[in-house]
Amino acid sequence: MDVSHAERAWVPRIEGEQGPIYLAIADAIGAAVARVELRPGERLPTHRALAKALGVDLTTVTRAYAEARRRGLLDARVGRGTFIRSMAPSPSLQATSDEFVDLGMNLPPLPEEPRLQDLLQQGLSRLLGGQEPRRVLSYRTGAGTADERAAGALWLRPVLGEVDPGRLLVCPGAQPALFAALSALAEPGDTVLADELTYPGLRAVAEQLGLRLAGVAADDEGMLPEAVEAAYGENRPKALYCIPTIQNPTTVTMPRERRQALAATAQRLGLHIVEDDAYGLLPSRPLPAIASFAPEITYYISTLSKVLSPALRMAYLVAPGGAGVERLGAMLRASVLMASPLLTGLFAEWMRDGTAGTVLSAIRKESAARQRLARELLPRASFSAHPEGLHLWLRLPPRWNRLDFTSHLRRQGGLGVVPSDAFSLVAPAPDSVRVSLGAAANRDDLRRAMTSLAIGLDRGGSPHFAAVV
Ligand SMILES: Cc1ncc(COP(=O)(O)O)c(C=O)c1O
Repeated sequence: MDVSHAERAWVPRIEGEQGPIYLAIADAIGAAVARVELRPGERLPTHRALAKALGVDLTTVTRAYAEARRRGLLDARVGRGTFIRSMAPSPSLQATSDEFVDLGMNLPPLPEEPRLQDLLQQGLSRLLGGQEPRRVLSYRTGAGTADERAAGALWLRPVLGEVDPGRLLVCPGAQPALFAALSALAEPGDTVLADELTYPGLRAVAEQLGLRLAGVAADDEGMLPEAVEAAYGENRPKALYCIPTIQNPTTVTMPRERRQALAATAQRLGLHIVEDDAYGLLPSRPLPAIASFAPEITYYISTLSKVLSPALRMAYLVAPGGAGVERLGAMLRASVLMASPLLTGLFAEWMRDGTAGTVLSAIRKESAARQRLARELLPRASFSAHPEGLHLWLRLPPRWNRLDFTSHLRRQGGLGVVPSDAFSLVAPAPDSVRVSLGAAANRDDLRRAMTSLAIGLDRGGSPHFAAVV
């Protein structure tokens, strides 16, 4: 990459991005600022150097930098170059009316009360000031201490019922748990069944492991058991992946009967299930997990990222039992070694003193308030959602196509949403987008964002084509 050494050789990765390149570059700058990969005051490559490094026109970089400046990410010091804004705001925490609001990332909202920052600070200070701080300041072997596994079994009781803590493995997030489960179940070339619209992280794992994903049809109660049976006959899959509660992206929650029917179908076929229950604890009345009906064939995954905070990113992987635990433990040791003892220790502490439940309740309350706000401001028929969920699945009116709508919102509304293509195993992807409510810094920002969204929906059209003469 030939970027002059006078500038730092930061070059955005934009391969595979959908939509106009200049927006992808501006997005990449925003993401790099959010990840603190680019720091306040840091100089970006010159227009010319970046154009050369990316193999794009100079005007594309000029537009990208102008867009990033409009989003409040850059300072222009005339004649001296382009710099990350000195007091660059953290986009998701401090967005204001004229800044970009990224509703593309699915995460729990920060409750106003209690403040998560305060609880984290207090919890860590207790943990580190306690009797045995060394416990959380070192490496450890095995996927979690007995304490942490017991805390996990207790946390999951509302969805799993009684579960032997010995079947639990503590992982640094759901993604590595998914990687481990599918590595244990399938080999390159094998097929895994999943919803036709599904979590993009599954697609990433499948690609790395050389697995084929086959889409299974669903209705408004989730994946159809008869479609699983038909797809089994056609594909001889090694596993079935599903998200039974607040499906990502469609928001569908399978009722109890559908869970039982799916469990029974998989049992009859001898098909393993990978149940990704990322959102399972969000409803105040959680439904029993599929794993509770078919524990002997289900690899169950539950992360804290979506029900508490990505700051506490850790997950439990519950193995079907027996040799499965050993095998998964070996996979996790080889890939991620262990979850951070500081976080797993903090969560065990939060289970002991009740903070975990308090935060979960506050998140449910804030999510419910945000969902009400969306219902108030958006046309009713335009979206599906769970009343305590983190996101909406928005169906666009016929005059809008999803990619045009997404880029229109970016340009006109300063708003980020995710088009269905990110989730779709089938082509063409439907004209729908995912809108995540938790990512807005506060309800005022969300209100503004929902208003922009409603205006955008109302307007309609294909702005790209409209500009062609
Ligand atoms: C269904 C589902 N599973 C897993 C994850 C990732 O969780 P983690 O952050 O624990 O890897 C997500 C994140 O969006 C998700 O939607």
